Amino acid sequence: MKFENWAGVPRRRVAMGTAAAAISATAVLGGGLTTAADAGEGSTPTAIILGVGASESQRVVSWYSSAHDHQVVEVAPTSKLDRGRFPKHTVTFSATVAANGVNGGYNGHATIDSLKKNTAYSYRVGSEGNWSPTYAFKTQDFKGDFDFLFFGDPQIGSSGDVAKDGAGWADTLKVSLAANPKAELLVSGGDQVESANTETQWEAFLGSDKLRQYPWAATIGNHDVGGKAYEQHFWTPNTDRSAPFYQGDAATQSGGDYWYIYKGVLFIDLNSNAYANGSDAAHLSYVTDVIKRHGAKAKYTALVYHHSIYSPADHANDADNQQRRQDFPAAFSRLGVDLVLQGHDHSYSRSYVIKNGKKANPAEQPGATQVAQGPGGVVYVTANSSSGSKYYDLTAPDTTKDPNYGPDPLNPSHHWANSVENQEHVRTYVKIQVREDKLIVQDIRSGTCAAPNAAVELGKVPWCGPNSGASAAQPVGSLVDKVQIHPYRDHGHHWAVPGGSGWLK
Ligand SMILES: [Fe+2]
Repeated sequence: MKFENWAGVPRRRVAMGTAAAAISATAVLGGGLTTAADAGEGSTPTAIILGVGASESQRVVSWYSSAHDHQVVEVAPTSKLDRGRFPKHTVTFSATVAANGVNGGYNGHATIDSLKKNTAYSYRVGSEGNWSPTYAFKTQDFKGDFDFLFFGDPQIGSSGDVAKDGAGWADTLKVSLAANPKAELLVSGGDQVESANTETQWEAFLGSDKLRQYPWAATIGNHDVGGKAYEQHFWTPNTDRSAPFYQGDAATQSGGDYWYIYKGVLFIDLNSNAYANGSDAAHLSYVTDVIKRHGAKAKYTALVYHHSIYSPADHANDADNQQRRQDFPAAFSRLGVDLVLQGHDHSYSRSYVIKNGKKANPAEQPGATQVAQGPGGVVYVTANSSSGSKYYDLTAPDTTKDPNYGPDPLNPSHHWANSVENQEHVRTYVKIQVREDKLIVQDIRSGTCAAPNAAVELGKVPWCGPNSGASAAQPVGSLVDKVQIHPYRDHGHHWAVPGGSGWLK
C-alpha cells in the first residue's frame, strides 16, 4: 500500500497523505468554491487521474484545482527519490488549466512525455508548497506482448447508493489488478457515472489509487455526455472535437473521437452518443482516416465505444443499435478491425466472428474457445457491469422488433450474432492479452453475490448466480468466457492497410 500511495511521504505543509483526504478536498470544491485568494495560498489539486497518452512513452495526468495558478506535474524515476523526496532538479511538465464553468473550480492536465521503458516513476501535481500526494506508475517494454483490462459501465450512482457503487468499482479495480499487476492499460467502456455533472459520483469513481497508477483510457457513455465534467476530468490524446463527434451542444456536453497506439495496437475510441445527423458516417470516415494514417504501424486495430451494437440484453433492439447493425459492420470488416469493445448493456456478450454484418462461418460453435478471423472477420465484445451498480438481464431475440436480429440457429435463446451471452448479477471485467499471433479475450468474475454488489444488496435484482441464480455463485477470478482469436495475416503485414496487398476489395 505504501508503494502504491506513498502515504508516508512527509509533506511540507499539510498532511494530505491519503486518497481520502484528496477526495474530501474535492468535496469542498463541490460544496463551496475555496479560491486561492480565500486561502491565501495556491490551490491543492484533487481528482487526480493517470490517463493514456498517444503512445507507450506518454501518460496524461488530469486533475481538478481550486485556483488558476501555476501548476505542473513533477516526474522522477522512483529510484531517484530520497526517502520520498523528489530530487532538486526534477523534470516538470507544464499544465494547461481551464475554468470548469458552471461546475466551479478549474481543471488541469499535463502530458508526461519521453518516458523510458521498464522504469518505475513517481509523480505529483501542484506547485511549491501545494503538492498532491506522490503517486507511482511503471512503464514496461515498449514492444511485444502486453495485457490490458476492459471495464463496462461503473456508472457510479445508478443503484441509488453512491458509496456502494464506489465500493464495488474499487473492489473490481483491486481484484483485477491484484490478479494482473502487469496489465498496462485500463480501458473504459463508458458510463463512468450516472449523472454527468454530479461531482460526488466522480469522487467515488476516482476513489481508488489504482486510477493514479495505471493509465485510464476514457470512453464517453450516454450518462457521461450530459455535461462538461467528463472532458474536464479526462484529457485524451489525439482528440477530434469537431461537431459530428458531439451528441449535441459542444458548449454544454462532452464529446470527441480519439486514437492512440500502444505496443502495436491501434485503439480508436468513438463518442457513440453522437449518432444522428450524419454522425455515424463521420465516425466511419474518422476510423478510415486514422487507420489509413496509422494502421501500418499496428498489428491489431481495436475500436472502443459505448453503445454495443450486438447487445444481448435490454438495449438489443434500441433504434440506434438496429440502424448501426446496418451501418457499421461492413465498414469495420473492410477496414480490418480486429476487436470491438463496447458497453451500455451491463451484461456480457462475445460475438461469433462477424464479417460484413453476418456470421463469417456458419459452423462456428457457441462458446468456441478458438476462432480464426479470416479476412474481414471482427469479434465484438460487450462488457458487463464492473461495479455492480446495475445489471440488465439477457433478453430473448425478438424479430418483431428487429427482423435482422433474430435467434441463433445453434442456440435459439441467444441472438444470432453472439457466441456467448451471460448475466449472473455479479461484477466482471474483461482481460485482453495481445500476443504476436493471437488475441486472448477473457471475461472474469471480480465479485460474488456478496457485498460489495450494490444491485444485489439493494434488492434491485431478485436472484444472483449462474443459471438465473439456480447455481451457486462462482469464485472471484473464475472465468465466464475465454477465447483465442487468431487474426488473418497477409505476408506478415496488417492486411487491411488501405492500398496494401491484403486490402479487401
Ligand atoms: Fe450504462
